[in-house]
Amino acid sequence: MLSEAKYLKGTLSRFSCAYCTPENPYARFACIRGGFVSVLTEDIQQRSAHTIMNTYARLPVSLVRGKGCKLYDAEDREYLDFVAGVAVNALGHGHPDLVTAIARQAQQLIHASNLFYSEPQVRLAEQLVSRSFADKVFFCNSGAEANETALKLARKYSFQKYGPHRHDVICMNNSFHGRTLATLTATGQSKVQHGFAPLPQGFKHADLNDFSSVERLIDDNTAAVMLEPIQGEGGVVVADGSFLKHVQALCRHRDVLLIFDEIQTGMGRTGTLFAYEHYAVRPDIMTLAKGLGGGLPIGACLATDAVAQAFDPGSHGSTFGGNPLACAAALVVLNALMDDNLLERSRTTGAYLHKGLQELQSRIPLIREVRGLGLLQGLALSMEGKPIVESCLARRVLINCTMETVLRFVPPLIVTNDEVDRLLEVLSSVFTTRLESFEHHRRAMPRS
Ligand SMILES: Cc1ncc(COP(=O)(O)O)c(C=O)c1O
Repeated sequence: MLSEAKYLKGTLSRFSCAYCTPENPYARFACIRGGFVSVLTEDIQQRSAHTIMNTYARLPVSLVRGKGCKLYDAEDREYLDFVAGVAVNALGHGHPDLVTAIARQAQQLIHASNLFYSEPQVRLAEQLVSRSFADKVFFCNSGAEANETALKLARKYSFQKYGPHRHDVICMNNSFHGRTLATLTATGQSKVQHGFAPLPQGFKHADLNDFSSVERLIDDNTAAVMLEPIQGEGGVVVADGSFLKHVQALCRHRDVLLIFDEIQTGMGRTGTLFAYEHYAVRPDIMTLAKGLGGGLPIGACLATDAVAQAFDPGSHGSTFGGNPLACAAALVVLNALMDDNLLERSRTTGAYLHKGLQELQSRIPLIREVRGLGLLQGLALSMEGKPIVESCLARRVLINCTMETVLRFVPPLIVTNDEVDRLLEVLSSVFTTRLESFEHHRRAMPRS
């Protein structure tokens, strides 16, 4: 068994443990450290290619454990994490309160289903409602499910009030709302839709920050307008306050529902609990996921009472949605955001990061624009972002690229200025090397 395995410091050795027995042809090496089993990255890559569907272009790293903003791979190399599980690990890795709450709840009750009441679920709903515009919550397990809920709710509400013709949803080009059939149709990027026709009907696309494009599409068949206050996957594009105000006024005027997808921007990511608080606007429906559970899968669809009443028993449901374990984790995240000054930290560290990126832009002509709010920041490049991500990885800093040319920085909200400095130092060195190599190639080119 694992407990009998010996770990030889600095070496990876064969063990006779339950996992790496000779009968398991894949687990050639394993080591144990503080209860973690680590198998070499190369092994994991090969096994993954055999058994996992090929849907992700992964970086060649297998992460094993984490602490704060640091992650450690199977070879025990340390990485600085500016990805945070794609804007998920709001409290960083191994946050003691989160770990304790999850362990305690797991001992008590992990899951019982929505056939019964569950106190952690109610407590979480109360917290979300008391801190937002919303009156009611539906819990699910992911962002896509939260958006499916929002779309179903908007259609049901509009159906009941106006009849079956009123089912269209106006979404934005370059948006991202998920990978289910309805949410990928809502998503304004044809690359995620390719090959999945026939797509559900009733989705139209306008341009973010172009009010007239929304005005042109809205009509008596429109049930809702759906948008992200900052398009995260779409390249960190921030909505203008005046655009949102005009859209809200138009929606109110026509009794069309306004849905904010705050799956990436919510839970303190932009420096307020929800991004809509930056603007003098209020949606009718809002979706959350990612940071909500601090790493445990949980999604939520929040709505005003008037809208939420469109659902009744049987309208919608989820086996796992809002189970005690996920809700216990989300309660810790909310408490930490409100009580540990994390919103303030997201604002100030985010501003520090933004300023540092602007300074970098002033020196590096490959950077076109710095944009973002709080700790959702992006660097728009005049080159592909992938080689920069790979060079940062080689220097043990994890970042991410969206829309091919936009570097995205979404660290845990507990990130420090020192850690931001480290990121900036690595980016500076990576970009300088790139510039030197471009210059070298330019000089080496024969003049025509
Ligand atoms: C704004 C937004 N909506 C929806 C989703 C989908 O969330 P999930 O992957 O949890 O289904 C994402 C994921 O990146 C997102 O950023």
